[in-house]
Amino acid sequence: MKLFIDSADIDEIIEAQSLGVLDGVTTNPSLIARSGKPFEQVVREILKVIDGPVNLEVVGTDAETMVAEGRKLAAFGENVVVKIPMLAEGLKAVKRLTSEGFKTNVTLIFSPSQALLAAKAGASYVSPFVGRLDDISHEGMEIVAQIREIYDNYDYGTEILAASLRHPIHFIEAARLGADVATLPLKVIKSLTLHPLTDKGLAAFLADWEKVKDKF
Ligand code: E4P
Repeated sequence: MKLFIDSADIDEIIEAQSLGVLDGVTTNPSLIARSGKPFEQVVREILKVIDGPVNLEVVGTDAETMVAEGRKLAAFGENVVVKIPMLAEGLKAVKRLTSEGFKTNVTLIFSPSQALLAAKAGASYVSPFVGRLDDISHEGMEIVAQIREIYDNYDYGTEILAASLRHPIHFIEAARLGADVATLPLKVIKSLTLHPLTDKGLAAFLADWEKVKDKF
């Protein structure tokens, strides 16, 4: 499973990349706003350090505008993936952008039927928002399982990008269900490295080593 960071904060992105396990970046308009920087500056900073897929979202809501914005976003770099919201107009935009050779990610997916239509339109990725479904008392991860089953039934090449993941259990469940990508905030990425028994075990090893430390 590929690991993306869900952030538009360049310091966070650099920190995640330094771990050596990062494959790409997802952003959205809220994350861009939270960065406090102009959009173009944020994009150029990210593209300077990330070679893998960098997901940038359109803000138009009609197909014409989304296609025009998508072309502009894609012009920033060959590794840009154009994020398109799951709307009927969005499907039209995905079809057009795909036929022009651009990579797309249909975002704000909350049902398997939305994901099926996105795949039929030619999306490179779909982003089911697991945590936001959990927030309203639905079993968010269930749609990842259903999308996986449907895509496997018909051999769709669209990748499942599990999004809105909030904690390590989400990450593991996404991997067990066969999501192709998980996107996580830096805080969650860092928490994946931790286990209290690792800390306890290391403390014991180091304490014991103190007793024989001339050996190294
Ligand atoms: C992914 O592309 C989305 O930007 C993100 O995962 C949304 O997460 P949230 O529901 O925690 O805002």
